[in-house]
This record gives sequence, structure tokens and C-alpha cells, in this order.
Amino acid sequence: MGIIYNETSKTITLQTKHSSYQMKIGNLDYLLHLYYGPSIWDTDMSYQIMQYDRGFSGNPYESRNERTFSLDAQPQEFSTQQQGDFRTASIEVVNGDGSYSYHGKAVSHKISKGKYQLDTLPCVFAAKNDTVDTLEVTLSDEISHVQVVLLYSVFEEADVITRAVKVVNSGDTSIHLKKIMSVCLDFFNGADFDLVSLPGRYGQERQAERQHMTHHIHTIGSVRGSSSHQQNPFVILCDRNATEDYGKCYGFSLMYSGNFLAEAELDQYDQLRLVMGIHPKQFVYELKPQEVFEGPEVVMAFTEHGFTGLSHLYHDFYRTNLCQSKFVQDVQRPVLINSWEAAFMDFDDVKLVEIAKAAKNMGVDLLVMDDGWFGKRDDDNSGLGDWYVNQNKIKCGLHKLVEQINDLGMKFGIWFEPEMVSEDSDLYRAHPDWAMQIPGRHAVRSRNQMALDMSRRDVQDYLIQQVNAILDDANIFYVKWDINRSLADIWSNELPPERQGEVYHRYILGLYRVMDNIIKTHPDILFEGCSGGGGRYDAAMLHYYPQYWVSDNNHPIDRLKLHYGTSFVYPVCTMGAHISDSGKFVPIKTKAVVAMCGTFGYELDATHLTKEEQAICKEQSDLFRKYYPLIIKGDYYRLTNPFKAGNMTAWQHVSKDQSESLLSVVVTNLTCNGPQEYVQAKGLVPDGMYRINDGKELYSGSALMNAGLPINREVDEYSSFQFYLKRER
Ligand code: DGJ
Repeated sequence: MGIIYNETSKTITLQTKHSSYQMKIGNLDYLLHLYYGPSIWDTDMSYQIMQYDRGFSGNPYESRNERTFSLDAQPQEFSTQQQGDFRTASIEVVNGDGSYSYHGKAVSHKISKGKYQLDTLPCVFAAKNDTVDTLEVTLSDEISHVQVVLLYSVFEEADVITRAVKVVNSGDTSIHLKKIMSVCLDFFNGADFDLVSLPGRYGQERQAERQHMTHHIHTIGSVRGSSSHQQNPFVILCDRNATEDYGKCYGFSLMYSGNFLAEAELDQYDQLRLVMGIHPKQFVYELKPQEVFEGPEVVMAFTEHGFTGLSHLYHDFYRTNLCQSKFVQDVQRPVLINSWEAAFMDFDDVKLVEIAKAAKNMGVDLLVMDDGWFGKRDDDNSGLGDWYVNQNKIKCGLHKLVEQINDLGMKFGIWFEPEMVSEDSDLYRAHPDWAMQIPGRHAVRSRNQMALDMSRRDVQDYLIQQVNAILDDANIFYVKWDINRSLADIWSNELPPERQGEVYHRYILGLYRVMDNIIKTHPDILFEGCSGGGGRYDAAMLHYYPQYWVSDNNHPIDRLKLHYGTSFVYPVCTMGAHISDSGKFVPIKTKAVVAMCGTFGYELDATHLTKEEQAICKEQSDLFRKYYPLIIKGDYYRLTNPFKAGNMTAWQHVSKDQSESLLSVVVTNLTCNGPQEYVQAKGLVPDGMYRINDGKELYSGSALMNAGLPINREVDEYSSFQFYLKRER
């Protein structure tokens, strides 16, 4: 059993294969957090708590003369508001009487088999053969009658614990939620922690960054209406000396695509608190009596085996428990070519067929018609929202175009940006009130487009109907779902002025409803998410789409950093990676090696390639298909850090049975007469004997992992190497 309640100590312990997490219904029924880390079995960890009378501490009223129990110093499972804890709160609620106070005490708990689900938000699920148990602890405020239900599911084998939160208004007046965090985790000793996050910008998403804890609140978050290019809803707390292979690492991955916040606070006593959930900016959510609010899920993982150990936990878990698409496990994904960088919006049906014919020679399986096929769309100033085929461009009609591509033996894919509308569109002319803009003000334009009010049911229904109609009209195999601006002018004409603080969140709920409907109606279609590159690359999106476009930046050398950062949490099988014209001095083979650290495809005008270049591409496409199981299903290792000075970047895929491996190296920089460099492999069987690229010699796993492979320096800059290791005995 993954969850143990000890009647005597009143501790509840969540047990995974290698970790324990403990809370206790403690003094005065406060729910205390006692431990998260390597397994401790059924020890009551409350022996760690030392109580002192600290200066200026607030004590609960019931403590009377006992001054040593202060919530300001106690480790808590869900930090309260206005109860003498001046650290970061997990909840801020305005009660019916206007007071800002939440005094939640543990009133009940329930342990059950299986995984909890949320009604309004995406969640991970229990896969076949998973042992999963769920704990539900209810905290109640006896004055306001507001209940907070803390949900935990324990995935024993996967070493993963998920958390979510529900707020139930059991009182008889409306309340207003201003902050609700899905996770709160207190550590007794936090001064030696580092925080790793994935900040970035357009074209440079998820550039991994590490900072030491100091005595303030470190915040990571987005207020752009989406999880954003600038931050990612994933953070790691780790030992100060943690490396790729050693050290304690705690991961927190939020299943949410809107505004989010993670706060890590090192307090006056060197205790560390981490909270994570929906960003409180412009968030005021009214809960009428008996209404329930759900906060998004956080997927937590713990390991003692450094960043690689943590990445492996997330990669394995997200490959089996996050997305139901058949392309995650069962069906091999196609090698695709996308029309964007080939033609932008300047194409017609004839041009697309020409690209497809040339791409056929390159071993491509799927042609994707990107932006520009619908409404009036010759540039990005018009047409968004008019999801019907532009007859001037696709003169033969969509059905016929797809038939022509299918006749070549290729599949067909299409691009949408459903959440957006151009002012110059039939949709905007018919429904100006559907676009988000504050009455009496001009809305901010970004790429000269506006966001639709996704919180509205009629907007959601329109999109479901329009997108489904196109997908039903032709034999469509693949959809790229894009969004190309951040949200501003947050306003819904459907909600009264006092409920405008709900719009950010209702937008995301509406988006999930639309995506859920379209994807469930078309289970055979392969969906890829995109947001001006990788701007909304988060676990919730990966619940719907098995893959996501990493970045609009296709420069292979920049891609090394992009793939590196993304891989801290998201598996390689989710990373959209293509060969393009970007990177003039980089050989096409190197571009292919880099794109093989992802779903592999092309983003160029195939008709401009020579026969020889097409033949090289064909070889690379075939190679990707050959290595597909290894790349997509194997363990991924970051062998070098591309942010550090060095002459090369290397990474490795190892099959689960360690019998095969693909070790890739890109030479990024060659110092004149520099030292010889060696790449040390990882994840091999030490006494197994491996053959490299069908060579004569056999090398032990131990030799390859300890001495490593010498990388030839007498090569051109941006050369690359792929070592295929096959275990012979
Ligand atoms: C942004 C995407 O990242 C690109 O790949 C392309 O689809 C454009 N949008 C189209 O407008």
C-alpha cells in the first residue's frame, strides 16, 4: 500500500519505491508537513520539530500561555492566511463578511485505490498495471465553512506523487478566492538548496538556469495568459552540490497552460517553502455557496540520482501516464515536411504538390500545410478565425489536394490557430464582441491579431464546429495547433464587471474543453502543439498533444541548448525538431543528427534541393526510422552542458535493456591546437561488450563509460558524429 495512516502517531506516509512523503495531523489539528525524501518507512518524523519561543511569533489563540507553537515556524502541508504565518500563503480568500482569513484544520481524511481525477482540468492517469493510491485530506475553517481538499495520488513504481487542491464553499455566502496554490512543501533545512528553472524568450526557450537560495522569495511565473516562452511551469529544488548523476533533486511540474507562479522562500530560520499554482495576478474567483474550485495538478518526483535521475523519472512517467494518443506508444510517427519555412504564406495547391513530390525523394512521409490556407490570408494581418479553405490558393479544394498527396504515398497535415482572430476577418466583422478587448479601449495588437474570448461557450462551440468540419472534410493525418501572442486586455463580455478576475482562468478552461472535444472526436489524428515555437510547452498541453514544436529557432547549434533545457522534464518523444535552411555553415548531416534528438522532420523548400542533397536527406530519414525505438523509447542522457565552454555537445539514447545505444556528438567550436576531448558514455552494462558502428573491435561498457571515446579534432567546425553501440555479449 502506497499510503499508510498510523493511528497512534496520526502520521500519514506516502510511500513510493524509493521515496517517502509524510504529514501529520498535529497539535490543535493543524496539518503539518514532516518529510519528503529517501524512504523512511513508518518512522514518525515529528521528532525533528523543535519548538521555541521566538521573538514576534504569532501563536494560535488556543495555545494560550504556550508560546512555542507558532505557524510561522511550523512546517505545513498547506500554509494558511492570517494565522501568524507570515511566509508565503497557499490560499488567500475574502470571506462573505469581508475578512481575509483562512483557518483550516484537518477534519477528515480518506485513502482509496486508484487515481483522483479533476472535472475541469487535465490530469495524469493510471496506466495499465500501475499501482496507484489516493489520499484526500479535508481542512475546514469552522467560522467561514470553507473547505480545502488536498488530493494526493501515489504512483509507487514510478516514484511520482501528484497533488491537486479543491476549494469548497460550504458556507451560505459567496467567497472570493484570490490565491490558491496546488502544492505547498516545507523543508526544515533549506539553506543549501538550489533552484533550477527554465527561463527563455522567443527563439530561445527553456535555457536552463540555476540559482542559490537566499533569504527572500524567489518567484518563477508567467502573467502572459499562457505558460509562455519566458518561463516554464517546471522547477527543481536540488542539493547545492547536485550534478547530472548525484544529489537529491525534487521536481515540480504543473499541469497548467495559463498564468502560473512558483515561489521558493528561504525563511528567517533557513527553512524553505515551495508553493506552486495559478498566478494570483488579476485572479479573483467568486465561489457561490456549494460551488467548488479546482486547482491544477502538480506532478512531483524525487531522486537521489541527480538531474539525469530526475529527468528519467519524468520521461518515463510522461511517456506512459500523460497523453492517451496512440502515437505515444503504439504507432510510429511519420517523418514530416512543413511548408512554413519553404513558402510562408506564398503557396497554392500546385506548389504544395511540388514540395511533396520532392520530399518523397527525401524519405518524407507527411506534408504539413502550415499557415496561409484559409480565409483571406496572404500575410499575417488578416484571416484568422475564418476556418474555411481559400479557394484562390487551394484551387482544387482541400479534398482533392489531400487526395493528390495521398496518391504520392504520403500523408497530409494542416495548421490551425483557433484561439485567435484578425480584425480583418469575417469572424470579427460578425462577432466583434468575441474578441478580448476592454470596452471603450483599443486592445493591444500583437502580430496584428486579437485573442478570442475562450471563456465563452459560444466561441468554444464555434471553434469545435469549424475545426471538426475541416478535419472531417478530408483525409487529415496531422494537426499543428498554434497560438502566436500573449494575452492582454483581459475582458469577457459574457461576465459582469465584478467577475472579470475569472477570465484568465476561464480562458484556459475553455481552451481545454475545445481541445478535448476535437482530439476525442479525432483519435487517429496526430496533434502537435505550437506557440510561436515553444511558448506554451507544458505538461497540460502534452496531455492533449503527444508532441510540441520546440522553437521557431531551427539553428542547429542553438537547438543544442534548446533540446538540453527542454529535456530536463519533457521526454525526447515530445520534442518537435526539424532540419531547415537555418545554419548556413552547418552540414546537413549535423542538422540531421540534431533533429534526431526529437521527432525529426524538415522545414525547407524541398524543390530547391539538388538530387544529391535529397539523397542525403533520404539517408537521414531512413536512419531516423531505424533508430526510432531507441530515440523515442530509450533513456536519454545529457553528456555535456552546452551552456559551458567546451568544444562539443554530446548526448545519448540507451535502450531500456541496455543492448543498444546511439551516442551523438556535435563539434561546436574548435580551439587551435587544443586538448584531445573524450566523451564518456552513460547507461551501459559495465561488463557488457559493445561494437561501435559495425567496427571490428569490442569495447566494454565500463571502458566507454570511464575512459570514454576520443573525438577526432581534425574535422571541420560543426561536424558531427553518431556512434551506434550494439552489445554483443
Ligand atoms: C509560429 C510557428 O511557430 C511557425 O512554425 C509557423 O507555424 C507560424 N507560427 C505560422 O504563422
